[in-house]
Amino acid sequence: MREATAIIERTVRLNEHYQHLHLSVENFGSDLKPGQSLLARLASDRWDPYLRETWWPVSLKPDEIVVERPGSITYEPGQVVSLLGMVGQPFRYKRTLRNVLLIADNTAPTPLIMSIPWLLSNRVSVTLVLTGEANQYPTNKLPPELEVINAEDDMTWPNMVMTVGWADQVFVVVKGDDEMQRMGRVWERFNNLRASIDKQYLFGVMQPAQPCGLGACGACQLSLREGEICTICTQGPAVDMTSIPFPE
Ligand code: FES
Repeated sequence: MREATAIIERTVRLNEHYQHLHLSVENFGSDLKPGQSLLARLASDRWDPYLRETWWPVSLKPDEIVVERPGSITYEPGQVVSLLGMVGQPFRYKRTLRNVLLIADNTAPTPLIMSIPWLLSNRVSVTLVLTGEANQYPTNKLPPELEVINAEDDMTWPNMVMTVGWADQVFVVVKGDDEMQRMGRVWERFNNLRASIDKQYLFGVMQPAQPCGLGACGACQLSLREGEICTICTQGPAVDMTSIPFPE
């Protein structure tokens, strides 16, 4: 884990709900991989009692990290940001991968966005399914090769059985109001669509509060099957849903 100081060079509004911050930062972040995030705090002269926020990178250039943030927060060019990173493990893709399904259920697909160009450049087809509030996400800036499906609020869409059967791996983000319950609904939906769910197929991308990001405070722990415990900040954010003890 390293700390760096970044400067907001510019803000680019995608629509009323989302914006991109272009952060200028030297010698930091160039090795960020899809799935990894940063813990950020705006620099201030006053003591700040709040936790750092998880900022998800969406693209990287030399000495520049672009992160996606809610459009409701005001950021100004020139603001200084303290960054800690990298947090978490890169998404664990299968060796042979042809089709990946990404699902954002009632939340921004932001944690999944950086993986899209990476997968497409490796000749992997990618489908992004947006449900409920996720349909506010502006998809016109995403690569044209990406298939986008605007699903119904109950997470159904035409040809759903085919899309799910065709995917080699699935990565899901859900709204954080009750992350486990929403992930449980996704698990149930996939169980109804497939005869069985193999390991390394369906991943929940978890977004708990992360006070330390180091595996030290225990705040982001998730209980798994057979008494195991996963620390999201060091072993996540993607958790194989076959290891989560959802109610039967
Ligand atoms: S944030 Fe402290 S253990 Fe994960």
